[in-house]
Amino acid sequence: MSAIKVVNSDFDTLLRRTTKLVNHTVRQLLADQKIIDSNLKKTIKYTLAAPGKRIRSVLALWCCEIVSGQINHNAEIAAAVIEMVHTYSLVHDDLPAMDNDDFRRGQPTCHNVFGEATAILTGDSLLTLAFEVLAKKIDEPTIAIELVSQLAEAAGPAGMIAGQIADLKAEKTAVSRKILQYIHTNKTAKMFRCAAAMGAICGGANARQLNSLCEYGLKIGLGFQIADDILDVCASSEQLGKTAGKDRKAGKATYPAVLGLQKSRQLAKNLADEAVAVLKLFGHKADTLRQLALALLQRSK
Ligand code: IPE
Ligand code: IPE
Ligand code: MG
Ligand code: MG
Ligand code: MG
Repeated sequence: MSAIKVVNSDFDTLLRRTTKLVNHTVRQLLADQKIIDSNLKKTIKYTLAAPGKRIRSVLALWCCEIVSGQINHNAEIAAAVIEMVHTYSLVHDDLPAMDNDDFRRGQPTCHNVFGEATAILTGDSLLTLAFEVLAKKIDEPTIAIELVSQLAEAAGPAGMIAGQIADLKAEKTAVSRKILQYIHTNKTAKMFRCAAAMGAICGGANARQLNSLCEYGLKIGLGFQIADDILDVCASSEQLGKTAGKDRKAGKATYPAVLGLQKSRQLAKNLADEAVAVLKLFGHKADTLRQLALALLQRSK
C-alpha cells in the first residue's frame, strides 16, 4: 500500500460529518444526564460544547468502522465519553496550578469565567460522568467493562496523569529525549491509543486488528503532541483558539525546545509514516486512517 501524500476533499467532508456525529451524541448525552446543580450544567456545557476538534472521538468511530464496516451505537457512546475525559483534562491542564492558561477553544478558560473551584469540580464532573455513561449506555456488559478498563488505564496514573506530573516536573529543567518521549507518550499518545482501542473493541476487533490499531493510535498521538508543540511556536493564538508561545515562557519540555523545529517536524513525519505502515493488514479499508495521519501532520490548529 503506497503512502498517501495529499489530503483529499472527500476526507475533509467525512471528517466534518463524523465530527458532527460526535457533537450530536455529546449533546444528547448531556441532555439525558441528571446534573442537578444548574451552575455545573452551565459550566459542563461551556467546556464540552465549545468547538474542540474531536479528533480522538473521530478516531474511535473510524476504528470501529474499519473492523466492522460500520459505526455502531457502542462506538458513538465511547466516542462521546472520550471527549468528556479529554475535555476534563483540558479544564484541569489550564488551571493556575498547572499551565495557567487564559484561553481554550477560542474562549476564556473555565476557571477564568467561573472561578477555580468550579473549574476543578467541572473537570471532576466530566471525568466521573464519562464512566457513568459507559456503565449505563453500552449495550453489552463485557464490552462496557473492557472500555472502562481501557479508559481508566489511559487517563489514570499509568497514563495521562503520569504524563502531566512529569510535564510539570520538567518545567525549566534540561530534559533528555527519553524523558520528553515519556512525557508526550503518557500525557497525550496513550489517550489516542485508547480511543483507537475503544473503537476497535466496539467493532469486535480480533487481537491482531486491535494491536495494529493501538500501535497506529500511539504513533499518531505522539505525532499530535509534537505538532501541538510546533504550533505553539509557529501559529497564532487566533488560529489555535489558545494562547500561542506559552511553552517557551513556561520553560516547558517540548520537542522544538529539545530538538529544534526542523528535527521535530521530521520526527512527526516519521511517526505518521510508521503509523500508516501498521495499517497494512486492513488494505484500502484503512485509507481514511491513512489520510488522518497526514491531516494531523499538516494541521494548522
Ligand atoms: C489539546 O488537544 C491538548 C493536547 C493533548 C495537545 P486538542 O488539540 O485535541 O484540543 P481540542 O479538543 O481540539 O480543543
Ligand atoms: C496537554 O498538553 C495534555 C493534556 C491535557 C493531557 P498541553 O499542555 O501542551 O496542551 P495545550 O497546549 O495546553 O492544549
Ligand atoms: Mg500542559
Ligand atoms: Mg496546556
Ligand atoms: Mg501545548
